Amino acid sequence: MRFLVVGGGAREHAIAAALHRAEAAVFVVSSNANPGLERLATVSARVDPTDAVRVVEFARAQRIEAAIIGPEGPLATGVGDALRAVNIPTVGPGQAAAQIESSKWFCRELLLKHGVGGQPKFVIPTTVEEVDRAVAEFAGPFVVKPSALTAGKGVWVQGSDFQDPKEGAVHAKSILLQGGSVVLEEKLEGEEFSLMAFVTDSGVYPMPAVQDFKRALEGNQGGNTGGMGSYTQRDHLLPFLSPADRDRALGTMEKTAAALRAEGLSYRGILYGGFMLTSRGPLLLEFNARFGDPEGINVLTLYEEGDFEELLYGVATGRVDPNLVRFRRRATVVKYLVPPGYGDRPQVGGILELDPGRIEAEGVHVFYGSVQEVGPSAVKLSSSRGIALIGEASAIHEAGVRVEAALKSVKGSYYVRHDIGTKEDLARRMEHMRAILSPGAKPSPIPLSVAAPSAAPSSAASADELIG
Ligand code: AMP
Ligand code: GLY
Repeated sequence: MRFLVVGGGAREHAIAAALHRAEAAVFVVSSNANPGLERLATVSARVDPTDAVRVVEFARAQRIEAAIIGPEGPLATGVGDALRAVNIPTVGPGQAAAQIESSKWFCRELLLKHGVGGQPKFVIPTTVEEVDRAVAEFAGPFVVKPSALTAGKGVWVQGSDFQDPKEGAVHAKSILLQGGSVVLEEKLEGEEFSLMAFVTDSGVYPMPAVQDFKRALEGNQGGNTGGMGSYTQRDHLLPFLSPADRDRALGTMEKTAAALRAEGLSYRGILYGGFMLTSRGPLLLEFNARFGDPEGINVLTLYEEGDFEELLYGVATGRVDPNLVRFRRRATVVKYLVPPGYGDRPQVGGILELDPGRIEAEGVHVFYGSVQEVGPSAVKLSSSRGIALIGEASAIHEAGVRVEAALKSVKGSYYVRHDIGTKEDLARRMEHMRAILSPGAKPSPIPLSVAAPSAAPSSAASADELIG
């Protein structure tokens, strides 16, 4: 089948690789020439992925039979509607349903209207006076979220991005005064996880749970980013996530899919729930209408047992064969190599030398993000995330060690979070969750000292076996 991939990042490289393994002919439209996609694609064109007219023009010229939209931008501009209008089945909701991601206001109101539980307390102020009232009502730490898309970087959390509630209020008011809308939420304490599912007319089909590392710097310091890396556990849960809590999160997603249907909004695509596991169970932070980046790289790498092309075609046409929703039982760790200073002051133009063949031979996969090929084994970094390396093993920690070993084959100046998937970090997160769940415990930020995990592991395998 001639399958179009819209977008040119590492997530799209991983989508294209999974399609290629299924022997699909991959076509690409992206603004950048991604070295990985260039190698896999039958035809790849420099087209703004958010420009629905030009994407459709390319799709018709190339006699495309099905499409998948990678990033949020084209979903928000209605590329899904435009492709379906010319009878190209597409994985990715239309503009109206994609508001579940592109408008935090739409999302919270939809869930409220349809009685979907599992939400934090929130207020959507429309005047500066309402901001002041909301802040007084929270009587505790809160979070300021611009309603529009911000590539994961727009959210301000009290205690990290601002200290004094007045500062948060000023930020919220400035968004309002610039004509934007803003959502204020109570600040939740807990561990975050991402749960993605294929959603189509025939149902909601979940993938393995993933934990993303949002903050730019080691120890979860620095600003929020799109994600610096992520891991999955062999049993498709996480060290702190029980089957019951995963199922509660899935329940929120199923009710949301039903709410969209009740509004007459068809949804054929990926639904990504970003949750915080709290003492009140998993509460929803946000929905995305696409694979996470990097989380998509974890799950797509685990998809090798079925026919990915057929699975995606099923999503796009409204009928999925549940037998095709199968992921290998292996732990994975993704780490992004980014320019030094990524986030605040990225150093653009640094050269990385790496031999992907050698890294792949060590069992670590290379997915190219925002880089430009400048030689046979050399790429130039931009201001965005550059290269994702993914290792797999039976335990999370071992997968992380594999990525660290592969880093030795990369020369040049870059930043990477070495703490992703380490035993110490996993133990810290389990301890953090245990403290939050223990009766009478006062929720605290992630402690800096490392304690051995004492919580019961989340599945039949021992915690040590699963995390390494
Ligand atoms: P979002 O774009 O809504 O996922 O927010 C980006 C990041 O901000 C999340 O991944 C969390 O780390 C943080 N965040 C968002 N909402 C909250 C909340 N209500 N409480 C605590 N942290 C939050
Ligand atoms: N990694 C977070 C996202 O894809 O939005």
